[in-house]
Amino acid sequence: MTAQIALITGANKGIGFETARLLGREGMTVLVGARSAGLGEEAAAALGGEGVDARFVHLDVTDPATIEAASKRIESEHGHLDVLVNNAGIAPAAGWAAPSATSVEAMREVYETNVFGVVAVTNAMLPLVRRSSAGRIVNVSSGLGSLAVMSDPSGESFPMNSLAYPSSKTAVNALTVAYAKDLAGTPIKVNAADPGYCATDMNGHAGFRTPVQGATEVFLLATLDDDGPTGAFRGGGERPGRPLPW
Ligand SMILES: NC(=O)c1ccc[n+]([C@@H]2O[C@H](COP(=O)([O-])OP(=O)(O)OC[C@H]3O[C@@H](n4cnc5c(N)ncnc54)[C@H](OP(=O)(O)O)[C@@H]3O)[C@@H](O)[C@H]2O)c1
Repeated sequence: MTAQIALITGANKGIGFETARLLGREGMTVLVGARSAGLGEEAAAALGGEGVDARFVHLDVTDPATIEAASKRIESEHGHLDVLVNNAGIAPAAGWAAPSATSVEAMREVYETNVFGVVAVTNAMLPLVRRSSAGRIVNVSSGLGSLAVMSDPSGESFPMNSLAYPSSKTAVNALTVAYAKDLAGTPIKVNAADPGYCATDMNGHAGFRTPVQGATEVFLLATLDDDGPTGAFRGGGERPGRPLPW
């Protein structure tokens, strides 16, 4: 049986790297998407040293030319894609300002990667995912994208009221539902994962979960059986694969 092919964006470090490692250990060929060739090659080599079939793919989710080149390369080398993990994301300081202090530029910067990047990569890769017998698309979201969580006065995230980053993940949730509906009736499942608060460069390693724990939430949705859900939001941490409110 030939190995399944998985593409993970932003896989050179953090949750993306650990997701690539988990999928690779499962026997998949992992395509390590990274915008930096040096960091991407390094990450693929590190996984290769562990026996994982890992290959660097140059992919900046805000750069249409790299997205197109990546899809052409995957088509010529593999002919299809089984798993797409839209993991690349940013959370710059300006993205955490109060709503009244958030500039449109800050919103655009965050959305360019976290939202438009997901759409651009998904649309470019979908023809390849459609050729899989059991395609899985996982969008890496966040509990901060949950309107139910963020509007619950008794919740621990309630005081965190910023605009750019949380709303970008709310948009990721919305487009997860929309793609799942678009692809209903196909074998492709589209779901959103909340890794929980993980210690990565994104938060100066302040998170209380490990990147492996976060990646496990992504892994579970990337390896769903045929009877698994589509258009679902899962993760968060209390127990792996926990359903989350939108
Ligand atoms: N850490 C958490 O607590 C947490 C919680 C909820 C959700 N998340 C989400 O989890 C995902 C991974 O975050 P992380 O915590 O692992 O952060 P991280 O360690 O900062 O990793 C982010 C990854 O995204 C890449 N990236 C950023 N912009 C990109 C672009 N334009 N094109 C391609 N790659 C790009 C980065 O590449 P460079 O190395 O080149 O910058 C890096 O590989 C993000 O979507 C984040 O929002 C994280």
